[in-house]
Amino acid sequence: MKVLITGAGGQLGRDLVEAFAEVAPGVGDLVAIEHRDLDITDEDAVRSAVDAYRPEGVVNAAAWTDVDGCEADPTRAHRVNALGPWWLARACARRGARLVTVSTDYVFCGVAPVDGAGQPRGWSEFDPVEPINVYGRSKAAGEQLVRQSVAAHHIVRTAWVAGARGRNFVTTMLRLARERGEVAVVDDQVGSPTCTRDLAAAIVELAGSDRYGTWNRTGPGHCSWYELAGAVFELSGVEVELTPQPSSALDRPAPRPAWSVLDATHAEAAGLMAMPHWRDGLARLLAELEG
Ligand SMILES: NC(=O)c1ccc[n+]([C@@H]2O[C@H](COP(=O)([O-])OP(=O)(O)OC[C@H]3O[C@@H](n4cnc5c(N)ncnc54)[C@H](OP(=O)(O)O)[C@@H]3O)[C@@H](O)[C@H]2O)c1
Repeated sequence: MKVLITGAGGQLGRDLVEAFAEVAPGVGDLVAIEHRDLDITDEDAVRSAVDAYRPEGVVNAAAWTDVDGCEADPTRAHRVNALGPWWLARACARRGARLVTVSTDYVFCGVAPVDGAGQPRGWSEFDPVEPINVYGRSKAAGEQLVRQSVAAHHIVRTAWVAGARGRNFVTTMLRLARERGEVAVVDDQVGSPTCTRDLAAAIVELAGSDRYGTWNRTGPGHCSWYELAGAVFELSGVEVELTPQPSSALDRPAPRPAWSVLDATHAEAAGLMAMPHWRDGLARLLAELEG
């Protein structure tokens, strides 16, 4: 299948390029376009790119992921995270190509849903979205616009993403430990960490499937940011003084959802690959960063 990847220079984009290159080794089977070569907010440019390359599938890894930046500039957030996927969806529909686009746990409000026993459960693909910040609203709008524009779509919701080639929580923790020797990390937000290599493999699988829809794709298990930091330092053997703190101590412009756990029941029952546990993905990511 001939695939066009947008946002190919981001942390997920780079790992997607490698993952697709392994399964699509033919010359011209893979076209990877970075932001400087295609701005997805430019509808004409998006249509021209899809017309020129004639992909059978487009995988969109482009997004404006600066959550506090989005809060300060809702129009830019909407243009990149909602209109960009819409232009891609419309271009795909025109050419009969399928679209995979990546979304987020931030479409949910963060108040944990509960199961029959009253215990918190992960968000399913079928829970109503209720974003609490601009970034989440822009991504939820992007999902809706894609759904209404191209039937052949996969919307991949993921969470707490970290890869070897990007700025993320894991690389930030390692840098802060080096620079300061002590780190305070919030312990009142819980989520499902996901390494980009595992996510890229899951996206390759979906791109080849015609069971279209919305899919949760994160590692199983969950932890707080504080627990994730502890695992980063434990697995990398870094000595650091780690203390928990509440989110309120950070006083950030955009509120963050407290419960960002995504449930894999639908994806796995439908036969998609079981993703590796987040600690396993983290261990491989740390090894890659060290190597
Ligand atoms: N990071 C997370 O924790 C997380 C969690 C849940 C879901 N997600 C989703 O996962 C996907 C990948 O995220 P990521 O972590 O790989 O983000 P990332 O590293 O910030 O990559 C995003 C890429 O999109 C590019 N981009 C921004 N605006 C663009 C535009 N108008 N046109 C074309 N490209 C543009 C960026 O280029 P520049 O840097 O040059 O602007 C960057 O290369 C996104 O859909 C994101 O919403 C991420």
